[in-house]
Amino acid sequence: MKYFFELGNFKGLSEAELKRVLEIYGINTDTVKNFSSKILIIDSKDIDNEIVVRVFNRLGGFIRAGEIIDDLDSFLDLDAKEKVVFGISYIGNKDFDIDKIQKLSVQIKNNFKKRSISSRYLLPKKYELNSAQVTTNSILEKGFELCIIENKDQQIYGKTLAIQDIESFAQRDYNKPKIDTKMGMLPPKLARIMCNLSGLKEGTIWDPFCGSGTIPMEASILGYNILASDIDREAVSATKSNIIWLGENGYISDILYEAFQFDITRPDPKILNKLRKTDIDAIIFEPYMGPPQTKILKPEKAEMLLSDVRELLLRFRKVVDNSFKGRVIVMIIPSYKTFKGWKTIGVREIFDKRWNILNKEYTQEDLKWERNNSIISRNIFILEKR
Ligand SMILES: C[S@@+](CC[C@H](N)C(=O)[O-])C[C@H]1O[C@@H](n2cnc3c(N)ncnc32)[C@H](O)[C@@H]1O
Repeated sequence: MKYFFELGNFKGLSEAELKRVLEIYGINTDTVKNFSSKILIIDSKDIDNEIVVRVFNRLGGFIRAGEIIDDLDSFLDLDAKEKVVFGISYIGNKDFDIDKIQKLSVQIKNNFKKRSISSRYLLPKKYELNSAQVTTNSILEKGFELCIIENKDQQIYGKTLAIQDIESFAQRDYNKPKIDTKMGMLPPKLARIMCNLSGLKEGTIWDPFCGSGTIPMEASILGYNILASDIDREAVSATKSNIIWLGENGYISDILYEAFQFDITRPDPKILNKLRKTDIDAIIFEPYMGPPQTKILKPEKAEMLLSDVRELLLRFRKVVDNSFKGRVIVMIIPSYKTFKGWKTIGVREIFDKRWNILNKEYTQEDLKWERNNSIISRNIFILEKR
């Protein structure tokens, strides 16, 4: 069977995320091919609709997924007793004439009418129906979303099986009780992607710079056990409140988690000892990234900020050497925009050859989360102990 996955804004991250999750499900990642800058296609006998939906619902970096339609006519020749609600989306790179979508919708509707099937169609505001249109109109349950998928020289059709639940990501971003705008928070989608990049099916994840807990929150939704720590007592308490809120809002039922104060640069020996005795499978984190920046930096300023982050990461590495028996680390290293280009820290300055950097095994693109016009960008690394 052939399936399509529509990538989010950061292609490299999404591609790596999907492949790591497929590995969890025992699916060969060689079956994943690039169709266009927006679409990956999986052609594998090891997957079916149910697995695609299950895989998709874990992901943070994808917009929709569905099956490729071999023959559009026989697909549209469907039988229905109740009103069919359908929509059409265009996923391609060209300027597409939106009238074509309208015309095709009318054509489909008329064909249904001839066969006494009543139907209603929804048009996208631009090219693609958004997640709210698809979910509030129950398109996937009461009919279908037909996707016209294009690359430079080919056009194919797809039927959406699942669409990203943007509402719930937004709810966790904005409605959680504790928000820390001063220190900054990860977008929940990126936190979700990072959890998936761990490639872990289950186990315990530690975020040693938890802030208000975005990574622990997404990790707990995925069913991992959580350790969360931070130098700041208030951050620890914010993480606890946010995890409790997840439970109150039906995101999680029973999870094992512990949040505690811990300074990575001056590790309390008792806690270190405890960590040593705990089976931690992966460490996933965003470190302190320096104070928020509003203007492009002078290179010397960036070097200064980076040297603080470097120092912190080296201290973190020491703790890892002393107390971490697991094999996986997924981490962020910041880059700063300067008048002389971007400045960052090499991951090899922190982790020597005892650690494999897995990024290139999953994508040729950089694993980067970078907003337009941002001054700080996040580079993501997947490390595995040899
Ligand atoms: C960028 S924030 C992390 C934000 C978090 N990912 C979130 O989404 O809420 C970095 C965190 O590192 C913590 N931190 C800074 N220095 C630390 C240290 N020496 N040991 C432990 N945590 C530290 C800060 O208190 C801050 O909460």
